[in-house]
Formats: sequence, structure tokens, C-alpha cells
Amino acid sequence: MTLSSTLTIPTTGAIPRHVAVIMDGNGRWARQRLLPRIAGHRRGSETVRKLVQQASGLGVEYLTLFAFSSENWRRPPEEVGMLMQLFITNLENEIQRMHAAQIRLRIIGDQGPLGTRLQTLIAESQQLTHANTGLTLTVAVNYGGRWDILQALNALLREHPEKQQEGIREIDLQPYLSMGDAPEPDLFIRTGGEQRISNFLLWQLAYTELYFTETLWPDFDRKSFLQAIESYQKRQRRFGRTGDQC
Ligand code: IPE
Ligand code: IPE
Ligand code: MG
Repeated sequence: MTLSSTLTIPTTGAIPRHVAVIMDGNGRWARQRLLPRIAGHRRGSETVRKLVQQASGLGVEYLTLFAFSSENWRRPPEEVGMLMQLFITNLENEIQRMHAAQIRLRIIGDQGPLGTRLQTLIAESQQLTHANTGLTLTVAVNYGGRWDILQALNALLREHPEKQQEGIREIDLQPYLSMGDAPEPDLFIRTGGEQRISNFLLWQLAYTELYFTETLWPDFDRKSFLQAIESYQKRQRRFGRTGDQC
């Protein structure tokens, strides 16, 4: 075995360093209660608030949440509009509290189509919290895994046109990806029962442990989170090695 291949294997601990979540099931939660879908999204925001505290308290270093995919523009315009408004309200209401809790907020995704108000708020929030040393909370908005890989490739080739001839290595692309400076997710959680990735972190999930639960996002409480972590703790992460080597 070469030294370089052993060096790239992350150290794995009892608490995942990086947890990535597809927060799904808000609409069904609302429908079960004969409420409008937005009521599910509002309740889902409360789950986010609590999860951030729980993750921080457990010593998770990176929490990455899928809030709006590049495909979610296909939803009815009223729902899209309300989701954007909810995002603005949540940012306005929560940013000072997050800052006080030493949370470093990052937004990933194509911000171009988001509207100037939201763009400004994102820039201010990131600027305010960039030097914080607690949990790094990354929220993916208008994000797509394919978009991420392509924007990284294009940025790399713009800065290093010679790579077109030389060929691109994984290590070259890494810094240009949206999560380039974060470790890859250890644990992926999807609520809401669907077992798919839905164009989330395609590159970064290569060796992530996947956890799917039927629980709808607004119902995903501390106990649900601990169950996901317990499941993770029972896994043997081999990264290509044999079980005996781990
Ligand atoms: C996830 O909940 C939130 C977003 C995608 C914005 P959904 O809105 O997809 O909820 P379901 O899947 O319809 O229940
Ligand atoms: C994935 O949920 C995206 C987010 C949670 C933001 P969707 O509800 O949009 O996914 P699909 O359409 O069921 O795959
Ligand atoms: Mg859904």
C-alpha cells in the first residue's frame, strides 16, 4: 500500500465530524394536518434551529443542510416565493443568535437567481460570522451537485488554462468545489422516506455513510438525530480496505 493512499483515509470518531442532511417531508407533514405546505416549511425551520444546537452540543464540526435544490424552481411559484421569504426571515431573526453561539454560516449554491435582498443578507451574514470558531453551518440554496462540479471545473480552467492539456486530478478540483475547505461528510441523513441523493453533494458523498429515515423533517427531533448517530457508530468504514485492516 502506498503512503499517499493511507494518508487520505480520514480518521473516524464516535461523533461524525461532518453531517449532511436532506431535510425532506415538510409538505407531507403539513398535508397530514390539512395545513398549507408552507406551514410544514415553517415547522421545518424550527427543526433546523434545534438541530444546529444539538449538533453543536455534540461536537459536530460541520453541519450541511439542503434547503433548496436547483430543481426546486419547478415547484409552483407561490411555494418558491414563500420559501425564499422564509429563508430571508429566518436569516434576519437568527443571525445574531448564531453569531453569539460562535456559528460560522456559509451558503452554497448559485446565488445569481436569488434576488438582491437575499444576496445582500447572505453576504452580510457570512461576513459577520466568518471568523467564528464553533460549528460551521452550511446551507445549500439553489444548489445542485452537478452544478457544483461544473462550476469548479470551469473556475479551475479559467485560472489554470494549462490544465486543459495536462489533465485534471482530483486534488486540483478539490479547492474549487463549494465545500472545498471542509472535510467530506461522514454521515448523510435524509428524512421523509425517499432513498435518493436528489443532486445533493455528488462529489463529496463518495464515501459518506448513508442514513435514511421515514421520519418527516418537522418531526426530526433530538432522539431521531441520536438514532442516526448511533447507526453511524455501528458502521465499519473501510474506504476500500479489508475489514481486518480497520
Ligand atoms: C423539503 O420538504 C423542503 C424543500 C424541498 C424545500 P418538501 O417540501 O419536499 O416536502 P415533501 O417531500 O413534499 O413532503
Ligand atoms: C430534496 O428534496 C431537496 C431539498 C430537501 C432541498 P425534494 O423533495 O426536492 O427531492 P425530490 O424531488 O423528492 O427528489
Ligand atoms: Mg420532498
